[in-house]
Amino acid sequence: MQAERDQWGSKIGFILAAAGSAIGLGNIWKFPYLVGENGGAAFIIIYLISILIVGLPTVIAEVLIGRTAQSNPVGSFKKLSNNSIFWTAIGGMGVFAGFVILSYYNVIAGWCAGYVVESLKGTFSTINNPAMAGELFAGLSSNPAWTLGFHALFMIMTVGIIYFGVSGGIEKAAKTLMPLLLLFMLALVVRGITLEGAKEGIIYLIKPDFSAINERTVLLALGQAFFSLSLGMGALLTYGSYMSKDDNLVNCSLNIVILDTAIALLAGFMFFPALFALGLQPDQGPSLIFNILPAMFNSIPAGGFFRVIFFLLLSMAALTSTISLMEVITAFFTEEFNLSRKKATIILGVFVFLLGVPSALAFGPMQNVHIFGKTFFGVADFFASNILLPLGGIFILIFVGWRWGMKEAIPNLIQGSRKHSAILLNIWKILVKFIAPVLVLIVLLFKILG
Ligand code: PHE
Repeated sequence: MQAERDQWGSKIGFILAAAGSAIGLGNIWKFPYLVGENGGAAFIIIYLISILIVGLPTVIAEVLIGRTAQSNPVGSFKKLSNNSIFWTAIGGMGVFAGFVILSYYNVIAGWCAGYVVESLKGTFSTINNPAMAGELFAGLSSNPAWTLGFHALFMIMTVGIIYFGVSGGIEKAAKTLMPLLLLFMLALVVRGITLEGAKEGIIYLIKPDFSAINERTVLLALGQAFFSLSLGMGALLTYGSYMSKDDNLVNCSLNIVILDTAIALLAGFMFFPALFALGLQPDQGPSLIFNILPAMFNSIPAGGFFRVIFFLLLSMAALTSTISLMEVITAFFTEEFNLSRKKATIILGVFVFLLGVPSALAFGPMQNVHIFGKTFFGVADFFASNILLPLGGIFILIFVGWRWGMKEAIPNLIQGSRKHSAILLNIWKILVKFIAPVLVLIVLLFKILG
């Protein structure tokens, strides 16, 4: 028999932990550069529509599976499908995705922590143009000792939290880190929009130019909605499994989605006004935060201080995401193999660290090792975020809409809510059964084929 499962201490604890999973590098690093490369406000509008018709319904479906089954992804699908091998394997695909994503995500998270240390050491104080910042970044990220050291450090922090369990580890961390994150972010937004010349950047974010929209934009927006909400691999399912059946599931899901979206938008307001104020172009691409930003801070008043705040913010956002990935695999190993949590976290931490080594070295000694034309890091990211997550998302939707079925799903969904609107329930049903899976399928096919 299994020991009694841990639970969230409060509803707000669950919301903050799940929002912490969702809010991460996807919001602060990826979202702004996608906005910058794809037409500003017009991209934001498409993104918001994707969140509403695919993101939110899928978040509800995923949390619902977990809360109903009260188990890890594998155990949950097994239970609700009455031991179907196929559906159990779908849960297994989520756990597998957890390993893959954590292995390379943790490398980037390590860089963020490394940049906090470098900022404190004053490494950036003489860097005053993006080219110099780029060179510095290339030097650091290709240095095995630096990149592996911070990869290890970040894994130790992740394991250190998961070791203490759901309410004692994850919930405590989320309750401390999330308010701080919001505070830091607001400080940086205020810093950005009060710079001289910031107005142009604000206009860029609110005035849509629809000529910038094409089918690629739509695909990118939908894919980003998925990654940003931590959907499709069982992170929200696992967090949902520690949720009380007395809490309002739809209301919690809505809060998670609103928080995640608000932070992505705030990240836009953190970067673009400052970029425009300093006369830089918005389309800086993925290199924005490590190549350009460190130099940018030297041109603004109190920049050194805000640079530390910025990289701390990134590290905290990444940490609340790495712990959710770690929790998925930990829940699986403790529940399916009866391992103790403490033993499991340490073994898994070492294992995932090793799995991440080729990704970490992909920017240095292993940069010429290519698989399918990409570095190890590139393959891991592409495979996880472009294939495993959307595929997992489709299966979650099909499972709730058709296999487990709405007849079972709806009563479980409304358990814990005092009022519910029949119209909204019907809209959710139609989105889950038809619209969302078809849209995600289209995205997946385009990404694989194109
Ligand atoms: N949502 C996280 C981010 O935006 C990434 C993530 C994906 C975390 C999947 C957990 C699971 O950075």
